[in-house]
Amino acid sequence: MSDIAATRQILVTSALPYANGSIHLGHMLEYIQTDIWVRFQKLRGHQAVYVCADDAHGSAIMLRAEKEGITSEQLIANVHAEHSADFADFLVNFDNFYSTHSEENRELSELIYTRLKEAGHISTRSVTQYYDPEKGMFLADRFIKGTCPKCAAEDQYGDNCEKCGATYEPTELKDPRSAISGATPVLKDSKHFFFRLQDFTDMLKQWTRSGALQDAVANKIAEWLDSGLQEWDISRDAPYFGFEIPGEPGKYFYVWLDAPIGYMASFKNLCSRRPELSFDGFWNADSSAELYHFIGKDIVNFHTLFWPAMLEGAGFRKPTAVNVHGYLTVNGQKMSKSRGTFIKARTYLDHLNPEYLRYYYAAKLGRGVEDLDLNLEDFVQKVNSDLVGKVVNIASRCAGFIHKGNGGVMVEANLAPELSSAFVDAAPSIADAYEKRDFSRAMREIMALADKANAWIADKAPWALNKQEGKQDEVQAICALGINLFRQLVIFLKPVLPTLAADAEAFLNVAPLRWDDHKALLTNHQLNAFKPLLARIEPAKIDAMIDASREDLAAAESTAPAGNGELVKEPLAEEINFDAFAAVDLRVALIEKCEFVEGADKLLRLSLDIGDAKRNVFSGIKSAYPDPSKLEGRLTLYVANLAPRKMKFGVSEGMVLAAGPGGEEIFLLSPDQGAKPGQRVK
Ligand code: 2FM
Ligand code: ZN
Repeated sequence: MSDIAATRQILVTSALPYANGSIHLGHMLEYIQTDIWVRFQKLRGHQAVYVCADDAHGSAIMLRAEKEGITSEQLIANVHAEHSADFADFLVNFDNFYSTHSEENRELSELIYTRLKEAGHISTRSVTQYYDPEKGMFLADRFIKGTCPKCAAEDQYGDNCEKCGATYEPTELKDPRSAISGATPVLKDSKHFFFRLQDFTDMLKQWTRSGALQDAVANKIAEWLDSGLQEWDISRDAPYFGFEIPGEPGKYFYVWLDAPIGYMASFKNLCSRRPELSFDGFWNADSSAELYHFIGKDIVNFHTLFWPAMLEGAGFRKPTAVNVHGYLTVNGQKMSKSRGTFIKARTYLDHLNPEYLRYYYAAKLGRGVEDLDLNLEDFVQKVNSDLVGKVVNIASRCAGFIHKGNGGVMVEANLAPELSSAFVDAAPSIADAYEKRDFSRAMREIMALADKANAWIADKAPWALNKQEGKQDEVQAICALGINLFRQLVIFLKPVLPTLAADAEAFLNVAPLRWDDHKALLTNHQLNAFKPLLARIEPAKIDAMIDASREDLAAAESTAPAGNGELVKEPLAEEINFDAFAAVDLRVALIEKCEFVEGADKLLRLSLDIGDAKRNVFSGIKSAYPDPSKLEGRLTLYVANLAPRKMKFGVSEGMVLAAGPGGEEIFLLSPDQGAKPGQRVK
């Protein structure tokens, strides 16, 4: 009989990663935590669905795309491909990984906004904010810099001082300037739209104490609730990458308005491919399906106040629970680029097996909001000792005897029924730990079983018995039980180690294992050949990963202004053959005209004479040449056969050559005197 209650319908989400940066091991903590929980639910036979998406809107994404000379749509498409590959390779098994920049999300955002407006939960008023007159846009606090009004530290952000810790209004900053263009911002009024969060105070007081939140989180929220809720500014002015507010030209939904709606939109998109899923069945106010959001502690207010209030106000169901986790530290400290502990998902994957990290995170994750430390020495020790030394070891100890002594067939015998039933008896507690996200308890209980199995096999010592005459049946019985115990452990670990489980299923010659399968043993069963299931972590791989993370930093700095005059070392690029070099058409070019580009803070427009033709090039060298006219009449080197690139300001035809880390240290290259425009560089 199954100890699993009737099939549940469970929709699960992880926070949507911003579409303007790479996934790192801090992000992975959440995706791995959620993925393990969802895989556990699926293994138990429930209808669990895991959706996510890139969080694709906002001014940061718009500005980064502009800096790269591509459209926001291109940027988010590139990042979506990168994120999807990172998640897949970490075995994060989304049912859908979508984007908030989608038609489903536009429709749902408009629907929710309209319903909130019709119910009187939207208000408007004028807001005065800093505006960058050069760039033509309002500036969020992080795009304003100036001198701290409290301690006079220079170069501080618009809302807090990193030096003295003071918080203030951007208007209090001395000598404010736009971090985008460097212009002095001016104060300007604009109409903003607000969501009246305070209308939902009573509902939120009740919901936050309904068991939907961990106690520590509910207590924190209670402080905010008690001090009174304020209306929430949900609009931003153009230019903005997002959805325009219906009927309000030039006004856009703030990215945090449509981001959580992205959970619904991703699910809706999935429903179009999976007819057994009903959007309304999961989202209607009276839905009996469960809805869980996994998030980090930095975005609690959005998920436990704004989001449930938006859902309630628009007539949808509220989350069953919001599960909050702490931050990741590495070797006891905040992840650090210079220490090489700011490790991107891809850098990890270039060196190590994803299941090592999945297991380590599981072994350390509890139900609480405490930070989790990835101690790299402990990581190596724990993975090697638990997974390789305890779990895989059982199979490698027993498989050989069965193959050599009995043609790979497990005999029908149970020498220690008390042992296999101890495994069965332990299952409900392990399942309970998984269900409650107390993965560290689940891993401890599973490893205690592995210890029992190893101790029993060591006591029976089949390797010694095998040398004695007449003991071969006993050896086969010991090893058959060993493999059965290994199989039970694999079932319990399957949510954490899906690849190891799949490889074990291939060796065991069984269909994909489900949770309830732990109750039955294999008897008279043919095994497939045994292949090593998991190698030990070599500490040298960790060192290589740390070194590579430092290189990631150097590479990032070589494309961004270093600003401090330090020489940034760039690793040499991959070797190319002569043909590849000769394919680049390098020419001498005369800079006939050089001017600023309106609306671009880094670019100069160069009109080039290349002998038999004129070319227009945009070059990101403004920071080093504040007086562009000084470049006029100068010769430089030019890549003539680079594909033209369409930019916001026009088409850039090729590229001029410069060296240096960036900022003021950009050095345009020039030929010796006597060179003529159009001459080929060889
Ligand atoms: O903090 C972040 O990284 C956000 N992109 C999370 C959004 S979660 C959800 F609300 F969309
Ligand atoms: Zn200060």
